[in-house]
Amino acid sequence: MLGLKLPTDPRWVNIVEGNIEEILTDHAWCEQKAASNAIALIAHNSELEDLVTELMVIAKEELEHFQQVHNIIKQRGLTLGRERKDSYVNELFKFMKKGEGRTQSLIDRLLFAAMIEARSCERFRVLSENISDEELSEFYRELMISEAGHYTTFLKLAKKYRKNIDVDKRWKEWLDYEASIISKYGKSETVHG
Ligand SMILES: [Fe+2]
Ligand SMILES: [Fe+2]
Repeated sequence: MLGLKLPTDPRWVNIVEGNIEEILTDHAWCEQKAASNAIALIAHNSELEDLVTELMVIAKEELEHFQQVHNIIKQRGLTLGRERKDSYVNELFKFMKKGEGRTQSLIDRLLFAAMIEARSCERFRVLSENISDEELSEFYRELMISEAGHYTTFLKLAKKYRKNIDVDKRWKEWLDYEASIISKYGKSETVHG
């Protein structure tokens, strides 16, 4: 359903299990960035009523996820560390088309967001299915469902506002590009690491 070309090696979960505090810190900031990104998209496209309506819902859900991760960190006596850099997302960012008009940059921003949602959803599924911690397994199963919904919404919005842009063709380019970078990852205890 997500269209991803390369699956995550489940051995990544062994690395994650070796440092739960690190994955929770990284994950918390992923949720914060997702909320901020939704709000930034609203601010840049305030005249697009459906986009504003849908992204307000997503922004609230991402903030709620941020709060849920923070609660787990507190309950376990761990500390929310500083924001981690996300080189996977930084590499995706470079693929965005810039300077080719307002519609193209909106479509690419929506596809960039859809791409991150798709991979995050897949990572949460792999975590949920392989982690031995029952609370986290259930938590990541719920988040997987939520992020799948966000992925669908971002793609739907890209199709709604595409004008003369071929979104299916551009999405295939995104999936190919993502496949070319993700093979380097799966080796550290971060959501996209
Ligand atoms: Fe989220
Ligand atoms: Fe999301």
